[in-house]
Amino acid sequence: MDRIYMDYACTSYPKPDEVIRAMTDYMTRIGSNVSRSSYGTAYEAEEIVYDTRAMLCDLFHGPDVKNVIFTKNITESLNVLLKGLLKPGDHVLVSAMEHNAVMRPLNQIARELFPEAEQVSGDGSESEPEGLSENAESGLEKAITYTRIPCDTEGFLQTQEMEKLLCPQTRAVVMMTASNVSGTLMPLDAVGAFCRKHGLIFIVDSAQTAGAFDIDMEKSGISALAFTGHKGLLGPQGTGGFIITDELAGQMEPLISGGTGSFSHTEEVPEILPDRFEAGTLNLPGIAGLGAALKFLREKGTDRILAHERQMTQLFLDQIASLEESGCLKIAGPRTAAERSAVVSVCPQHMDPSQLAFRLEKEYGILTRVGLHCAPSAHKSLGTFPSGTVRFSFGWATTEEEIHAAAQALDKLCRK
Ligand SMILES: Cc1ncc(COP(=O)(O)O)c(C=O)c1O
Repeated sequence: MDRIYMDYACTSYPKPDEVIRAMTDYMTRIGSNVSRSSYGTAYEAEEIVYDTRAMLCDLFHGPDVKNVIFTKNITESLNVLLKGLLKPGDHVLVSAMEHNAVMRPLNQIARELFPEAEQVSGDGSESEPEGLSENAESGLEKAITYTRIPCDTEGFLQTQEMEKLLCPQTRAVVMMTASNVSGTLMPLDAVGAFCRKHGLIFIVDSAQTAGAFDIDMEKSGISALAFTGHKGLLGPQGTGGFIITDELAGQMEPLISGGTGSFSHTEEVPEILPDRFEAGTLNLPGIAGLGAALKFLREKGTDRILAHERQMTQLFLDQIASLEESGCLKIAGPRTAAERSAVVSVCPQHMDPSQLAFRLEKEYGILTRVGLHCAPSAHKSLGTFPSGTVRFSFGWATTEEEIHAAAQALDKLCRK
């Protein structure tokens, strides 16, 4: 039985051959560090890192190559951004669909400031600032709090609610580009315009759309764009980063500090980018692989990848529609592929989701992801909490045959 990989939203597989070749070449032939030594292969490694930064800057319309910072994944990027930026008294707006990569650091810093305070476990609908229990409200001016912007049952952001949720302490909006549960796209331009109007910092988690959708920092008024290398960017695991405006970088403290190979006469953290946020040796084989992946995306065209993913998603939605009509399963999120990323989550009506995922693999070789997908609040909006969903997600190498096979397998397993 061939395996059918439908877990691209978790991590993309397969990777283009070019990625593997670039990593092998770095490991076998180059091997040197960057920004430290000064011989031929060290310069070659330097060039690979610079070119990868430049391609990322170009892809996301960043301010400058130096403003591209590498980390090991988007989770680390969001931690560096949130923990380096937020100060006591700050209030943040987030969507009710956010991943734990945003919510856990936010809750963590709220708790660190007030260890005695119990966290409020919001259901994603209330508009009171969350992050601390009521008994700590006397200290709210010293707390870091957040409010969730509600999303409807398909995951769409209720943008008309945003003005009402602002308070004098609101400093930033942190938002994903698309839900990893339902694929629902977030209105980046509208939120960016809202941030511009109110002078807010706009931090974006691009995990689910980078590599297929156009993300333009300048046009959407994004202050920091966090990215992960191993999903739609088609690079290896252990790569990621963020692109930041000079203005925001100037307001942040680095989370990690140490040797950078630059300014070695001083024991203070350098002011310049990217060094300020990039202490220690980088994941150089990973960056070489990511660079090759970005070249592959350029040559193939992200617009063509998006068109392919949309076609596969629509085909799948069409093929499983009758299962929903006959009450055998529910599809979470928007009805059309145009309104979502290449993610389709389903809730079987006569079976436990984990049993369905197990049988999909054992009987049909279909690999999906089951559960809450690190986004409990999203499931509360979608009405799929706490049972979760079985998530099918597609990518550049998904074929029509695979979609047919998955739809047929679902039919066999779910139809009563
Ligand atoms: C929306 C979103 N944000 C953040 C992450 C975390 O990504 P990583 O594990 O690469 O840090 C994911 C991963 O699934 C995601 O879907």
